[in-house]
Amino acid sequence: MTMTQERDALLRPHAEQAFAAELTALAAADDRPRPPSWKLSPWAVVTYLLGGTLPDGTVITPKYVGPRRLMEVAVATLATDRALLLIGVPGTAKTWVSEHLSAAVAGHSTLLVQGTSGTAEEAIRYGWNYARLLAEGPSEAALVPSPIMTAMRTGSIARLEELTRIPSDVQDALITVLSEKTLPVPELGTEVQAAKGFNVIATANDRDRGVNELSSALRRRFNTVVLPLPADEDEEVSIVARRVEQLGAALELPAVPAAAEEIRRVVRVFRELRSGITEDGRTKLKSPSGTLSTAEAISVITNGMALAAHFGDGVLRPGDIAGAVLGAVVKDPVADQVVWTEYLEAVVRQRAEWADFYRACREVNG
Ligand SMILES: Nc1ncnc2c1ncn2[C@@H]1O[C@H](COP(=O)(O)OP(=O)(O)OP(=O)(O)O)[C@@H](O)[C@H]1O
Ligand SMILES: [Mg+2]
Repeated sequence: MTMTQERDALLRPHAEQAFAAELTALAAADDRPRPPSWKLSPWAVVTYLLGGTLPDGTVITPKYVGPRRLMEVAVATLATDRALLLIGVPGTAKTWVSEHLSAAVAGHSTLLVQGTSGTAEEAIRYGWNYARLLAEGPSEAALVPSPIMTAMRTGSIARLEELTRIPSDVQDALITVLSEKTLPVPELGTEVQAAKGFNVIATANDRDRGVNELSSALRRRFNTVVLPLPADEDEEVSIVARRVEQLGAALELPAVPAAAEEIRRVVRVFRELRSGITEDGRTKLKSPSGTLSTAEAISVITNGMALAAHFGDGVLRPGDIAGAVLGAVVKDPVADQVVWTEYLEAVVRQRAEWADFYRACREVNG
C-alpha cells in the first residue's frame, strides 16, 4: 500500500496525515524565520490554521474559523518560554486547534496526555518497565518516558488534554517542567533538559473549572487563550457545513447534498436553546442541561446524512435529523423533555416554514 492508501484506510487520520499535502506546500513556500525545531514559521502556522492561498496557487483550507488575533497569540506563545492553555466552553475547538497547532509547529500531534481524574504522575514524568526494572534495577533502558519527556528530549510539542481534570498534586509535576525546563530522574541521578523548541499545549473546559482549580503557580506558566463560541449564526453554519462535508468524505458516506437549510435549522435551534432566547429576541426559553455546541450540531447533521444515505431517499430531510436533535437536547429524560416540548410548541410550531420539521419532531417526541 502507498502512504496515501494507508492514510485513506484510517478511520481518523491525524491532522499531519490528513493535511500532509498542505503542510508540505506551506513548508516549501515558507521563507520566513522559523523558531528552533519548528517545521514552519509562525506566519505559515497561522496560515495553515486560518487558510489562504500560496503564491503557487495552492489553497490552504481553513481549519479554525474565528478571530485571527487569537491564533496569532497562540502561535506566538509557543515561540516563548510560556506554555499555551486553550480554554473555553465545550465544543469550541480547543482539542481541534491543539491538534492542528501541534501538527503545524512540530510535524506531529501525537505526543498526547489525556487528562482524567485518574491521570498519574507517570503520565507527565516517566514510568518504568517493571520486568526490566526488577531484572536489571533502574536503568535508562527500563525507563518509560512520558509524551512530555519525549517532547523535551526532541525539542517538540506535547499536548495535554483536559488539564483541570488532573488531580492537583499531579498537576504540580508540571511546574518544574514548565519553569525549569528540566525533568529530574532521581533514580538514575540524571535529568532530562528540554531541547529548544519544547513546549506544551494544554486544553481545559470552562465547565470543569473548580473541579481541580489550577494552582496559581501553574497558571502563571501558561498564556491563556479563550476560544469563543462562533460569533453569529452564519459563522456557526459555515463551521458545521465544512466539518460535515469533511466527515462525510472521511466516513465514505454515499453523497448526500449538503442540506444548507437543515444545517441552518439545527444551528438555530441549538443557538436559541443555548442562549435561552429566540433569534428575534422575543421569546425567553429554558435551556436544557446538556451542552448544545457546534460539535453536537456537527454530529446531528452527520447522523442525519447517514440515515438519509442508507435508509432515506438520499436527501437530508427533517425526519432524518429529528431523532438526533431530540437525543442531543434531552439528556435528562424528565427536565429536558419539558424544555424541549415547550420549545417545540412555543417556537417551532409557530414558524410556518418549519412545519415539516415540527411534524418530524412530534413524531419522535415519544
Ligand atoms: N471555531 C471553529 N472553527 C472550526 N471548527 C470548529 C470551531 N468550533 C467548533 N469546531 C468544530 O467542533 C468540533 C469539536 O471541537 P473540539 O472537540 O475541539 O471541542 P473542544 O473545545 O475540545 O470541546 P470539549 O471541551 O468538549 O473537549 C470539531 O470538529 C471542530 O472542527
Ligand atoms: Mg476537547
